Amino acid sequence: MRLSKRLKEICDMVPSCDTLTDIGTDHAFVPITAVSRGKAKRGRACDIEKGPLERAKANVKKEGLAGRIECLLSDGLSSVDVSCDDVIVITGMGGENIRDIIDASLQKAENAKALVLGPQRHPERLLSFLLENGFEIDEERELIDREKNYILIRTHFGGLK
Ligand SMILES: C[S@@+](CC[C@H](N)C(=O)[O-])C[C@H]1O[C@@H](n2cnc3c(N)ncnc32)[C@H](O)[C@@H]1O
Repeated sequence: MRLSKRLKEICDMVPSCDTLTDIGTDHAFVPITAVSRGKAKRGRACDIEKGPLERAKANVKKEGLAGRIECLLSDGLSSVDVSCDDVIVITGMGGENIRDIIDASLQKAENAKALVLGPQRHPERLLSFLLENGFEIDEERELIDREKNYILIRTHFGGLK
């Protein structure tokens, strides 16, 4: 499995955790990498579409991780529970979509140890939502991969709104 520079940076920003939940997983490369490198004990690969979820399942099986990574059809965080030692990853979609996914399950996002977010458009709208809702920005990375600019954000809920 060859990771792009962007996916490598995303995996690098994930802190060690119990369960890594990847929302909009598509290929499931992020939970596969985190679990196989020992950063996460378990993974959840979630997607709203059946096609990407089948791709995720096939890759998880190919890597021999079907016992440790659950593949779930889920709109955002609606089908999962999140505990305080879990990390949520939402990358590869627009900042407004990421904001709406977090807003729809705000308490779950607040519970997480960290969220690693990769808004492809309108990062400023996601950042202002996070700051207005008591999240602290722990790290921001900017990178260029295949001539495209990306921003990655690691955040956690700081307890004050
Ligand atoms: C471009 S792919 C990104 C894949 C991977 N996260 C990455 O960064 O390379 C976006 C994926 O997000 C999924 N998606 C979009 N909205 C979603 C939602 N509300 N809940 C779960 N998945 C969603 C799409 O079906 C698609 O598979």
